[in-house]
Amino acid sequence: MEALEYNYVRREILKLTGIDLHGYKSPQMQRRLSAYLLRSGSPTWAHLFRAIRQDEQAIRQLKDYLTINVSAFFRDIERYHYLQRVILPELLQRRASLRIWSAGCSRGQEPYSLALLLADHTSLTSRHRLLATDVDGTALAWAKAGGPYSAEDVVNVPTTLRARFFTEEQGGYRVIESLRRQVSFRQHNLLTAPIEQTFDLIVCRNVVIYFTPEAKNELYSQLYQALRPGGVLFVGATEVIARASEKGFVSKGISFYQRPGGP
Ligand SMILES: C[S@@+](CC[C@H](N)C(=O)[O-])C[C@H]1O[C@@H](n2cnc3c(N)ncnc32)[C@H](O)[C@@H]1O
Repeated sequence: MEALEYNYVRREILKLTGIDLHGYKSPQMQRRLSAYLLRSGSPTWAHLFRAIRQDEQAIRQLKDYLTINVSAFFRDIERYHYLQRVILPELLQRRASLRIWSAGCSRGQEPYSLALLLADHTSLTSRHRLLATDVDGTALAWAKAGGPYSAEDVVNVPTTLRARFFTEEQGGYRVIESLRRQVSFRQHNLLTAPIEQTFDLIVCRNVVIYFTPEAKNELYSQLYQALRPGGVLFVGATEVIARASEKGFVSKGISFYQRPGGP
């Protein structure tokens, strides 16, 4: 895609969906956009934008496509085991009630996995505070409704927890009301909005894959600042923070980075 055309497409997408593609790696994003245009059957971007301007569902589809909502409960289960066995007990030793943030929470599988872990761990989830944010309002609405989630989504949920915290319905599995109440959902763009709170655990997994190195770098520095001393950042199974120690992080095993200090 030519630079001029890409600028035009980015501007129109911002107007239509509210998503600012600045900060996303352009070669990958351009490939995704070209594939989208091809699939749509429209001969040009101008034609496609005209065709979907009044079509809320098509705009939502474009948004879903751009933000890539793929997720699952307890994604990379062995990392969650490590969180449960090593990280959470250490954090709970420092502080009885934890503040946790799932940043880029998609349809809620990640924050509900965390709520399930806490329920299993401490039996009293309500003493902890769980914030979940995403740029995509459609995904958030899904999350707030507690689903429904497919059998594939919940495959890693232990059967005892599935029986306790989900109801089965035609479209799949839904998280029960009492667990839903444990999570506060909010729309938030990690590339543009400030982070106003501090946390004991920040979970930001599989979100930055399409960000430019500069945007990633800036975000990780901000996430460091948003951790309480002793707090931990949990990233995706294949994600590594470049020059983590220069930012102040100490590695806590694969996928976990700690801000040193604290009680
Ligand atoms: C692949 S999903 C990952 C979901 C979950 N964290 C996981 O690991 O399973 C990526 C999510 O990041 C969100 N996202 C993408 N860009 C974002 C941004 N700039 N700010 C906040 N969320 C963003 C997408 O909407 C999507 O829900």
